[in-house]
Amino acid sequence: MSRVPLPYNQKVLELFRNPKNLGRMEDATVSAVAGNPMCGDMITFYLKIDDEEVIRKASFESYGCAANIATSSILTEMIKNKTLKQAWNVSWKKIVEEIGGLPSIKFHCGILAVGALRRAIRKYYEEKGYTPKWLPKELTFEEKQALEEEELAERLAKRMDGQQ
Ligand code: FES
Repeated sequence: MSRVPLPYNQKVLELFRNPKNLGRMEDATVSAVAGNPMCGDMITFYLKIDDEEVIRKASFESYGCAANIATSSILTEMIKNKTLKQAWNVSWKKIVEEIGGLPSIKFHCGILAVGALRRAIRKYYEEKGYTPKWLPKELTFEEKQALEEEELAERLAKRMDGQQ
């Protein structure tokens, strides 16, 4: 059976070929690893956060597909100089809109990007030891989508670290 190429638009292809903010951030304030239960792909999101809870830098490492790289790339741009609350409120639908659309079977790739970002934000507050009023107590849908493969994701991360 031959593979039919997915109908990605030019913007997605351009971001896939030349992603922005790709790579590990050595001086990150917080990072989070997230695995996608649908495809087993994973992503790490890094944030540099200042004392006013504003994101000064964001970067990512992706072991996912073109759609995941494109959505993660645009997300890191969208949250730069935003407060954590503003970044939290960026929806995966908004990201898909920003990149000019995705085939519906690729929506979960954008959900993974948002899930990883939210996990990083939640982890930041856990490490600080307080919870702002706007942060939902229960995990959101996006975080759950990024959590189910957590164990697998961590194992893969360790294996990849071992190769460096
Ligand atoms: S198919 Fe796994 S992230 Fe896109």
